[in-house]
Amino acid sequence: QQMEKGRYEHFMLKEINEQPYIMMKIADTIEYYKKFSERLESALKSGSLSIVAAGTSMHAGLIGKFYLSTLAGFGSDVIIASEFPEWSRHIANGDVILAISQSGETADVLEAVRIARDRGAKVFSIVNVPGSTLTRLSDEYVFIQAGPEVGVAATKTFTAQVASLYVISSLISDPTSSEDLREKLLSISNSILKDMGRVDEESRKIAGLLKSREHVFFLGRGVNYPTALEGALKLKEISYIHAEGYAAGEYKHGPLALIEEGVPVIALIPKERSLINKIIYNLMEVKARGSFTVTIQPPDVSLPSDRRLVVDVEDELTSPLIYAIPLQLIAYYTALELGRNPDKPRNLAKSVTVE
Ligand code: G6P
Repeated sequence: QQMEKGRYEHFMLKEINEQPYIMMKIADTIEYYKKFSERLESALKSGSLSIVAAGTSMHAGLIGKFYLSTLAGFGSDVIIASEFPEWSRHIANGDVILAISQSGETADVLEAVRIARDRGAKVFSIVNVPGSTLTRLSDEYVFIQAGPEVGVAATKTFTAQVASLYVISSLISDPTSSEDLREKLLSISNSILKDMGRVDEESRKIAGLLKSREHVFFLGRGVNYPTALEGALKLKEISYIHAEGYAAGEYKHGPLALIEEGVPVIALIPKERSLINKIIYNLMEVKARGSFTVTIQPPDVSLPSDRRLVVDVEDELTSPLIYAIPLQLIAYYTALELGRNPDKPRNLAKSVTVE
């Protein structure tokens, strides 16, 4: 299939900009997720749940774990696909695997699913590409409806996975919540669209400040801890700057040693008041050691940041959908600043079909 970049310079930028429309599409197809949610819920009554994925899909899986715990009351494990053979010996008949993969072709994910099936586990999967091998190996699957993604670094498929996991977990929690979910996703989509121009411009300016740095750290708490991991992954994979994502409170157990004058720390500021105070403390700690602090944050919060990028977050749980966008744009523009091709990072492949 010949894909077109249209008015965008790269597929990555085009795909970043498609995200509000994908949120609309998911909002308009909530009913489509119902059967999958019902079957997943009934399967979870008889066994444990392990989420299996690689790369960006694994970060979406961590957010899915958070949703399933917070919204649906189900505990789960997230197992990195390549580690599955060693970390899954307890999985047995009646247990459930939730595989998340954009391509549905990642060799490590397919291998994990085959192992799980041999042990009698049920396989549910969340996929983007129709007709992919993973759908054929699954008992149940659902599509994230993001359309083809060409950029090697996943962008729109990350938020489509997160939104799908949010819908599935919410429907398990309350099967009558379709209309509320529709409204919520539409309002997220509108707020992304409304702010896109400004967020793009501010992300580009932040990229200009990052381009000459050796390390960049991303901090998040709660549901945005995995978003911080994803922000770091995006930056390192396309700009080749060393980046690490950390749970904000864990940061003092190691990475703090790398903070010196000018090292950038990008913090995702929670919406919830109780969490804000904790992250303020974390920011003060790095700032006292000379860090250059950037906050991606809701309006009306005053923080010890050298640079702030304000986004319109409505609630904590869905905030990764909104925070992901400036993180993707910061990575994109940093790559451009450094003359890298963001669509084709060196050494990486869109779909890794070897173990
Ligand atoms: C590759 C891609 C990543 C992707 C990962 C998992 O490493 O470069 O962008 O997140 O594979 O791919 P999947 O298709 O299983 O989601």
